[in-house]
Amino acid sequence: MLPTPRTLILLAATALTVPGVPTWAAQPVRARHGMVVTRERHATEAGLQVLASGGNAVDAAVAVGFALAVTHSSAGNIGGGGFMLVRLADGRTTFIDFRERAPEAASRNMYLDANGKATQDSTLGYRASGVPGTVRGLEYASQKYGKLPWASLVRPAAELASKGFTLSYAQAQSLRNGGRGLARFPESNRIFLRDGKFYEPGDTFVQPELGRTLDRIARLGAKDFYEGETARLLAEDMQAHGGLITLDDLRKYTAIERKPLTGTYHGYTLVTAPPPSSGGVGILQMLAMLDGTGFEKGGAGSATVVHYMTEAMRRYFADRAEHLGDPDFVKVPLTALLDPKYIASQRASIDPVQATPSSQVRAGKFSGHESVETTHYTVADDQGNVVAVTYTLNGGYGSKVTAAGLGFLLNNEMDDFAAKPGEANMFGLIQGEANAIAPRKTPLSSMVPTIVLKDGQPFLALGSPGGPTIINSVLEVIVNVLDFHMNVQDAVNWPRFHHQWMPDTLQMEPGYSPDTVALLQSRGYTIRRVNAQGEVAAIRFENGWLEGAPDPRTEGTAEGR
Ligand code: DON
Repeated sequence: MLPTPRTLILLAATALTVPGVPTWAAQPVRARHGMVVTRERHATEAGLQVLASGGNAVDAAVAVGFALAVTHSSAGNIGGGGFMLVRLADGRTTFIDFRERAPEAASRNMYLDANGKATQDSTLGYRASGVPGTVRGLEYASQKYGKLPWASLVRPAAELASKGFTLSYAQAQSLRNGGRGLARFPESNRIFLRDGKFYEPGDTFVQPELGRTLDRIARLGAKDFYEGETARLLAEDMQAHGGLITLDDLRKYTAIERKPLTGTYHGYTLVTAPPPSSGGVGILQMLAMLDGTGFEKGGAGSATVVHYMTEAMRRYFADRAEHLGDPDFVKVPLTALLDPKYIASQRASIDPVQATPSSQVRAGKFSGHESVETTHYTVADDQGNVVAVTYTLNGGYGSKVTAAGLGFLLNNEMDDFAAKPGEANMFGLIQGEANAIAPRKTPLSSMVPTIVLKDGQPFLALGSPGGPTIINSVLEVIVNVLDFHMNVQDAVNWPRFHHQWMPDTLQMEPGYSPDTVALLQSRGYTIRRVNAQGEVAAIRFENGWLEGAPDPRTEGTAEGR
């Protein structure tokens, strides 16, 4: 069939406005009545089953959270914490903060040695863990926003643990390589490394202790984890090995429901993560900085786009280092950080061609290497509820400690604090006083589950792991869809880049042409190649269709009904 004049005009317009978008398109998974996107197929299936049996998106998200704790041991967890962003069918939005908190016995300099040097205790071993929040957070969400009985959401995970599941190639590889530190801790070595007789692809991975823990949680609720048998065993193990978490810390742990941050960009409304996530303010500040620069005219993948976005990243990350922390402990100057006048001055400081050295970029003054192991999943049901969850142990396999008799790994989230304000942490992030350690405080996070609305209706929901790169990966996928009009799968697949102010390097995935890279170098950027950045799980809402886009960088899957 010959193209009509209208399609010709459209094609010409597309070519003019979005150069760089390939004419091929990777296809998302499409369905009408429900969609689950996670990084592991058993967990995706668990979520879909819940939707099929009448559960809503919150129910499915709870079931996925428990399933990933079994099938994605390096990041899925009950020994960690995270954030759940919810947009209900009636238009309400909420944010459940179930991130780890510093134990009562934590103190500002707890990770410094006698010479004031940071030790590895914030990343490895019993002292690295914050009080886990996942079980409390998932129960809170289920009780307040779910429909199905709690036990029915936990049981599938308990069964996956006690009956076992078949390990994929990547899962076996991850256990073998990703968790090297696991060998130092006998319980972790026995369970995850089979005492050095590593698991192979195709093996069945059975976790009886975890199965029993999950069975208790299914029967007795979060009370078991925070006050019951699980709490008792965990506190005893901590005490026996110099860990800080006590029974009292566990008993006092509460999930906190917070108001999401919102903002607008190019006619869309963004609903995103508030502090103690640094991500929402980052996404909103960077989009606002970009708005009006005309950066998008450069076209996806161009040096112009990478340049403007990197300059926005650099400026935001300088603010992050200085101003962001737990809002229950420090005053986070949100209004100032998002003030259009401040953002306009930041925008004006961007040279249209040359990179600004980070040494010349300072945070605003206002008055008054580990593997990518966090995980994000996104769920939508047929009533219009949307849930985006990012949760984590922090580093791959967390602190590498498995609680004796309980079968689950503990987080090393304490490393997200500034162990020594002004010095880089595991992710090379420089952070300041606002994120210093204090008892009961929540470490600053980059996790940023985000939902974009158009005309008040869900348009795109997404998130990613990747430490500080999370914020930029989410930003880039949003820009790819909103400004470059890529379909959601292309937007997720598209090569990513990252800058975090310090170190002053631009990290880029393969996929940018050599001449683009050369152009960027000539503008003053120091470029470092990385294999893969992040692992986005996104859903796009399109004329009654749900389009699920897992990340081809890993074994993510999308399934719909
Ligand atoms: O909350 C945070 O920002 C980090 N704990 C996330 C860690 C992460 O994504 C691990 N991946 N590299």
